[in-house]
Amino acid sequence: MKADFIQKDFTTLKADALVLVLTKEDIGDGSGSSKQGRLFDKFHSEKTQLERAVKGGRFKGDKDELVTVYSAARYGVVFLVGTGDESELTNERLRRAAAAGVREAQSVKAASVVVATMDSVLEETSHYEVVHSLLEGAILGAYKYDRYFTLKRDASTVTSITVAFSSVDSATGKKAARDAQLTCEAVYLTRDLCNAPANEMYPEVLARVAANMARKYHVRARIFDEKQIRKMKMGGLLAVNAGSAKPPRFITLEYRGNARNNTWYAIVGKGITFDSGGISLKPSAGMGEMKMDMSGAAAVIGTIQALASLKIPVNVVGIAPSTENLPGGNAYKPGDVVTTMSGITIEVDNTDAEGRVVLSDGLHYAKRYNPKVIIDLATLTGAVVVALGHHATGMMGTSEDTMAQLKEAGEKTYERVWQLPIFEEYEKQIKSDIADVKNVGGRWAGSITAGLFLKKFVGDYPWVHLDIAGTAMLEEKADYSIKGGSGVGVRLLTQFFKQISSQR
Ligand code: BES
Ligand code: ZN
Ligand code: ZN
Repeated sequence: MKADFIQKDFTTLKADALVLVLTKEDIGDGSGSSKQGRLFDKFHSEKTQLERAVKGGRFKGDKDELVTVYSAARYGVVFLVGTGDESELTNERLRRAAAAGVREAQSVKAASVVVATMDSVLEETSHYEVVHSLLEGAILGAYKYDRYFTLKRDASTVTSITVAFSSVDSATGKKAARDAQLTCEAVYLTRDLCNAPANEMYPEVLARVAANMARKYHVRARIFDEKQIRKMKMGGLLAVNAGSAKPPRFITLEYRGNARNNTWYAIVGKGITFDSGGISLKPSAGMGEMKMDMSGAAAVIGTIQALASLKIPVNVVGIAPSTENLPGGNAYKPGDVVTTMSGITIEVDNTDAEGRVVLSDGLHYAKRYNPKVIIDLATLTGAVVVALGHHATGMMGTSEDTMAQLKEAGEKTYERVWQLPIFEEYEKQIKSDIADVKNVGGRWAGSITAGLFLKKFVGDYPWVHLDIAGTAMLEEKADYSIKGGSGVGVRLLTQFFKQISSQR
């Protein structure tokens, strides 16, 4: 995908398709008066279909409105996408509108697309953000996962998207376009990893993808194999791995974007490449979805790529313990007691609560970096999906500062987070009679007891846990996500680190 900005008025450009994002005020009453009908003004000298669509009242600029106009100006097809009242315009509305338009363009097999709005959009918001949002929505909306179709491959692919404004200066526009493209490439990587089937995406493959990314972006990768994992005594990761025929991997990615200081941030992702539940086997209906149980790890890998490609001045280590959770003959069992790398012992009550068991070692390992904060991402509990559905990531932790920053980053990127409490009263639910902690906490507040379990392994380090079970994979397409992997976490954390690095 080629994404670019050009400092020109869209009426002077040529492409297969034009996506024109318009507010109600841009359309006015359709009469073409210079005050109201801004769009009409632009085309006043041409008797185009576009003019007719607007004048005839077919298109009003309402939110979510989309009208197709064939061959207007120098475009094969034009999609008018409404965003509603100008006063309610947000970056998110721009993303969604651009995505809706690009999807239509894709469906008519357009390859080159120009995305534009009226200049009025630029009056209230920063020019950088307008260009960035439009491109982000357009690129993410164009994402497809079609590599396994061989018989009926749908050839329609948008290959170039250009945002055009004559009144945005070229340097600002180009910078926004490049940043949006790099960010979206990282989201694409994360989505690809999540959507990949588990027979082709298992720990060794996940580690290889991480290592290849690291080589390309000059990040230091260290991939620990089973022997090294044993040597480090990562009993949690090994216990979950015992039922799988495939060996585990422990992935670390060190991105050193700020050579002037030694402050590290750690991001830790759950990397279960398939979660059958193990001996506490899941029901078969819908089990295939559990190929995405490595979405936390995928978000970590994508985030490191985004930070490195955008050259954000911050030091971040990405950590991802990875294994399958299968019920092989050697599998760990309910009733087992596992000794983790930290020395803390876990009574296994349910082998399907495996994410927290592997994260115990990932979180403990993170302490080696003496990190300023540890943030973990995990498709950890079904309970968070019950609580928050698919529109918010569950957040809990000990660093109020970090959570406030993440909340802000979430609003900005629209990868929104919502805090759950981790009151100490919940803790007795994970008390074990024979070990330091039990891996399940009963029926109530399942996401919170899972969080409290993780908390035992971060010690005194400031920490935030993001439960992305509801947001990492969508049941149906939405806005700029397809059905499947959303890539959640990448834009959120990238924005978070941008904020952190600009505030120092
Ligand atoms: N990977 C699942 C959680 C999950 C559920 C992710 C739905 C995405 C969508 C996790 O390993 C799991 O099985 N959790 C159990 C925990 C329970 C046994 C305490 C759950 O949520 O049912
Ligand atoms: Zn599970
Ligand atoms: Zn799981």
